[in-house]
Amino acid sequence: MSTIDKDTTKGADVSDTSVYLSNNYAPVADEITVNDLNVIGAIPEELDGRWLRNGPNPIGEVDPATHHWFTGNAMVHGVRIRGGRAEWYRNRWVRGQREAEALGEPMPTGPVHTEFGAAGPNTSIGGFAGEIWALVEAGAVPMRMTPELDTIGYDDFSGTLPNGFSAHPKYDPASGELHAVCYTWPDLMDHVQYVVVGRDGKVTKVIDVPVDDMPMIHDMSITQNYALVYDLPVTVDIDLAMQERFPFRWNPDHPARVGLLSRDADNADDIIWCDAPMNYLYHPLNAYEDEDGRVVVDVCSYDVMFHKDLNGPLGDTTPVLDRWTIDPKTRTTNVEHVDERLHEFPRHNPKVGGMKHRFGYTAGATNGKADLFGATYKIDYDAGTILEHDHGEGRGGAEPVFVAKEGGSAEDDGWLMVAVHDATVDRSDLVILDAADFEGDEVARIELPRRVPHGFHGNWVRD
Ligand SMILES: [Fe+2]
Repeated sequence: MSTIDKDTTKGADVSDTSVYLSNNYAPVADEITVNDLNVIGAIPEELDGRWLRNGPNPIGEVDPATHHWFTGNAMVHGVRIRGGRAEWYRNRWVRGQREAEALGEPMPTGPVHTEFGAAGPNTSIGGFAGEIWALVEAGAVPMRMTPELDTIGYDDFSGTLPNGFSAHPKYDPASGELHAVCYTWPDLMDHVQYVVVGRDGKVTKVIDVPVDDMPMIHDMSITQNYALVYDLPVTVDIDLAMQERFPFRWNPDHPARVGLLSRDADNADDIIWCDAPMNYLYHPLNAYEDEDGRVVVDVCSYDVMFHKDLNGPLGDTTPVLDRWTIDPKTRTTNVEHVDERLHEFPRHNPKVGGMKHRFGYTAGATNGKADLFGATYKIDYDAGTILEHDHGEGRGGAEPVFVAKEGGSAEDDGWLMVAVHDATVDRSDLVILDAADFEGDEVARIELPRRVPHGFHGNWVRD
């Protein structure tokens, strides 16, 4: 194996293996429902729906020496907003087969395509085709949830999804379709799948894309003409799998590349593979094609991933903001460093998905230790500026979910919904910011009855 030429001293301090189970990474112990939440400020009247968020929340004891943050049992959190009021907060475990067994409840209905899929999807939750779906990668089929966050059952898009799905389908505002790149551990070892789901919630296209080494492909991008396949150097490690640990780690022998697959293709024969930096990324912000036919994608990029830290993503290096410009003619990627501070969980106005964006919004950090998340950032790529919304002493944000304002025309005409943890009282708020007045006061602060542990992704689901 080749040696690693990476500076792995830039990560967070996770020398104590319990980091991913401590402070606001720690799970909450139970499920609660609390009605009529206290609100500071004024919730915009037009907001009628639910803020939903998914993340890991282990049931019972786990071994901190081997527990991986990504494998905790799924728990969703939600706030019902209507008529300027926050009607309720709920948190519920997603009842996959493993969760049902642990909780002593009946098994969920619906198909499970792989052993990995027996877990409840713990990575994202959102609305599509009139339903609410909890999602994860690596082989699980989606889980349908009720608007009150109860588990309905596994649903492979009415029998049309052949293998696993992804936590990061991309919504195409032009067609109303979802696009995803999906891998299925351990059933599909030599290819991943590009999957398109139509507006009716049924799969309309599946293309097998050959890859080596079973890479962990967390997310994807679309542009007007392409689906992007991020084939990066984090791949299955059989030794870890045999130890029943999280089975992916840094693989310096796996060349980094990005595949540009024509959205019109019927197979992957003509996919354009372009060299990419030997980095890892979970999340592209958005991608589009420039006037020269190159693909521009803004990314939260890690120098290395799962090299020394095998329990979570932050111990080797922390993510910085880069712009990748991928040229299908030269099959190369140019990297421009945009900001060296930590940026993760990038979001944008959904109306510009796959098209040129001006603005992006990310979660930043206030320190390099366990409680990583801090300020919220607004990046203006046209002006070349990054604004910071400081949530206050001891307070740190998470993924900023963008909700377009009704009748808004500017790209930043919208609200940002951010779960903010206050470490001084160990409780969370759901904060609503005006994206166009980003450094101004909070529009509303909805006081939640407990903390929302550091987790992954969510969405606003209109009623
Ligand atoms: Fe993600």
